[in-house]
Amino acid sequence: MTDAHEFIPAARPVIDEEEIEAAVRVLRSGRVVQGPEVAAFEEEFSELVDGRHCVAVNSGTSALHLALMALGIGPGDEVIVPSFSFAASANAVRLVGADVVFVDIEADTFCLDPAAVEAAVTSRTAAIMPVHLYGHPAAMDRIMAIAAQRGLAVVEDACQAHAAALNGTPVGAFGSAGTFSFYPTKNMHSLEGGMISTADAEVARTLRLLRNQGMEQRYANEIVGANVRMTDVSAAIGRVQRGKLAGWTEQRIANAAYLTEHITAANVVTPKVAEGARHIYHQYTVRIQGDREAAMARLTEAGVGNAVYYPTPIHRLKPYWEPDQKAGRIWDLPETERAAAEVVSLPVHPALTQRDLDRIVTAVNALGEQL
Ligand SMILES: Cc1ncc(COP(=O)(O)O)c(C=O)c1O
Repeated sequence: MTDAHEFIPAARPVIDEEEIEAAVRVLRSGRVVQGPEVAAFEEEFSELVDGRHCVAVNSGTSALHLALMALGIGPGDEVIVPSFSFAASANAVRLVGADVVFVDIEADTFCLDPAAVEAAVTSRTAAIMPVHLYGHPAAMDRIMAIAAQRGLAVVEDACQAHAAALNGTPVGAFGSAGTFSFYPTKNMHSLEGGMISTADAEVARTLRLLRNQGMEQRYANEIVGANVRMTDVSAAIGRVQRGKLAGWTEQRIANAAYLTEHITAANVVTPKVAEGARHIYHQYTVRIQGDREAAMARLTEAGVGNAVYYPTPIHRLKPYWEPDQKAGRIWDLPETERAAAEVVSLPVHPALTQRDLDRIVTAVNALGEQL
């Protein structure tokens, strides 16, 4: 066992002096909730989504929830969602009282399969929620064409995909709304936080009302809203991280390219990138064709962090599985099931050294003989 004491973590959230100084500066200022830092963060983040309106909230989940609310999606509506995602994607749909329709993914990109989306549209479909999983953009050209033809809203779950793009258009700049997460393990963070992007000024205004009790003027409540405001401490940290995102993203892409070039084990399938896609590698996710548990144990033993996102597809989680069983609803999602059984994410974060990368390659290639 070499270098096992130097464990290479699967993710490494950054809280450096700059982030700490920004937080302290805000705390000393006394303006700590939805003040000038939040406004500046929204403005600066907007550059990542082709200048769309940006509305900051307290998490990616709140961003999804409010986006659906602002688009008027609710009881009686169906929303098409991939089951191969984090539960938040489907939870947001259920939180607004709409029905989740699970659709399968493409084997190569792990993102919604547009042909399956088209087949799932019914008279009740109100929206499609593509998830740009692992930082790979979903097939937005085809999904937007289906949405336009059927008059459907599109809520992009870009929580893992800051600055990913398809054919030069950034994620979050395609749909009726885009949503981002700033959880600490994301490519950039604000401790906790989220952002919604939209081209529609009216939707943006509704989002601003919804995040703050329905108020623009204090105590002049216009609609029923929640409190999902972002703090200025979070926004100040988010602004620092936003400034570092471009460099970090380039490093992730370079790390991924190195891994893909050097991983040669026959039973390990490296990630594919669709034509025109800019994959920003929130995760570097391989498929293990063999005993995944054994492979993960070997990697851990070699000091290489690894994790499965997601071992259980959302449709198999209790709050979805039980009502579906009761209603006799069975989802046919073979690629989702296969992905959940095969995927393993390896370290790709920007703090990796050349030595780390070589250790990852060595450990993964050794699986060729070990499984
Ligand atoms: C695909 C996806 N959607 C939604 C979320 C929810 O974001 P948050 O954890 O900020 O609420 C996450 C993050 O964990 C995610 O990965």
